[in-house]
Amino acid sequence: MKRPDSVPPAGRYRIETWGCQMNAHDSEKLAGLLEEAGYRPAADISQADVILLNTCTVRDKAEEKVFSRLGSFRPLKERNPSLIIGVCGCVAQKEGESVFRRSGLADLVLGPRAIESLPAMLEQVRRDRCRPVDLGRRDDSILFAGHRARRLPGAHAYLTVMEGCNKTCTYCIVPLTRGREVSKAAPEVLREAREVAAAGYREIELLGQNVNAYRSGRTHLGGLLRMLQEVETIRRLRFTTSHPAHLSLEIIRAMRDCPSVCDHLHLPVQSGADSVLERMQRGYSRRRYLDRVENLRSHVPGIALSTDIIVGFPGETPGEFAQTLSLLREVEFDQVFSFLYSPREGTPADALADGVETAEKRARLAELQALQQEIQLRRNRSLVGSVEEILVDGASRQGRGQITGRTRSNRVVNLPGDAAKAGQFMKVEIVSAGPNSLEGRPCGPADLDLAEIAVYK
Ligand code: 5AD
Ligand code: SF4
Repeated sequence: MKRPDSVPPAGRYRIETWGCQMNAHDSEKLAGLLEEAGYRPAADISQADVILLNTCTVRDKAEEKVFSRLGSFRPLKERNPSLIIGVCGCVAQKEGESVFRRSGLADLVLGPRAIESLPAMLEQVRRDRCRPVDLGRRDDSILFAGHRARRLPGAHAYLTVMEGCNKTCTYCIVPLTRGREVSKAAPEVLREAREVAAAGYREIELLGQNVNAYRSGRTHLGGLLRMLQEVETIRRLRFTTSHPAHLSLEIIRAMRDCPSVCDHLHLPVQSGADSVLERMQRGYSRRRYLDRVENLRSHVPGIALSTDIIVGFPGETPGEFAQTLSLLREVEFDQVFSFLYSPREGTPADALADGVETAEKRARLAELQALQQEIQLRRNRSLVGSVEEILVDGASRQGRGQITGRTRSNRVVNLPGDAAKAGQFMKVEIVSAGPNSLEGRPCGPADLDLAEIAVYK
């Protein structure tokens, strides 16, 4: 096989990532480990000596994709027999050894809480051509020193503050894959935030499967948000994913008081029917969820809210589904991520009787999505004429000299501009709106100072 001119000592790597933000950041940690071991990124997958699939198993489709992707590597492996293919992330944790039975192409299986083993496992495979598995729960991704991660360039950085989930939602595989909750010590979080700021990032997204349950000594998430205010150049702070039952008044007050905390919250509700919420064991009622929303809106006026909905949970009746539609009308979310229920082996809901036809579930999903598009279009149109601060991500997918950025409320804005503005703050006037994004035109200074941002809030 033709090799690039200067081959790094250990070889080249490629990481493909599925799933949530937690996984995206774990891939940055895996990349950091590979670079410490002398690997460098491969410009093209055909040049890779190591391919890692960092996988998600939250729904069956995500898991299936991993195995079909593995199959697609056969020609690469035939051309380069020393190519090492690793399966990491949640499918690795759930399937363990059986990954090897499902695909003869995988060489190693590494769980999300054991990532530090990666370099040693690669050595083992190289030396002995064995197939190591490590599913240890050593909290590696929490203890991982942040500066070792190879973060994507840009203005936005992830920072893992907690991992795992102690909840017992009956549909969810995550407690089985990510294990029990563990938090990163608050001084460590602060140190990492300072490092990230010194590296030039302007926005930090704190990550945890149940981030509202963050706890370090006497510091809860609200205290952590307040503590992070001292990192001056971090002008935007977000956190995900919130669980409604853990969204305390302290957290809401911190959102109100801290200038850098963005006015957006992702607050998964899953269903609008109390009976379904009970079968899901979510630990809150529709009323309690709505109270939280009211509380958020009274403390942080204009806050944008997004949510997750599962359609077709076992036994969901037309009446229960109608309750979800009515919740969407009542709350008017700014964004909704909706999914067809996917049975996950080993979860309590897998044993529940279903009885709803797949076609019916699909029709419900389509109805829900159509309603939400209407709501989003209405909400976005109300912003036309307003001035927003955006942080530029880079060139827009639409091309044609367009760039894209996000408002503090996490709305996507496309506007004419130069991709070199990536990482800069800009003031834009919103000139038109669609259901999923806004169109803007630049106005005012390209870079605001902190005092100005506080006024906008
Ligand atoms: N089926 C469908 N969707 C699921 N989610 C979690 N588990 C399942 C499942 N078994 C959804 C939830 C969660 C999001 C990350 O994925 O809505 O909030
Ligand atoms: Fe997927 Fe959940 Fe694992 Fe994230 S934690 S990768 S969403 S299964």
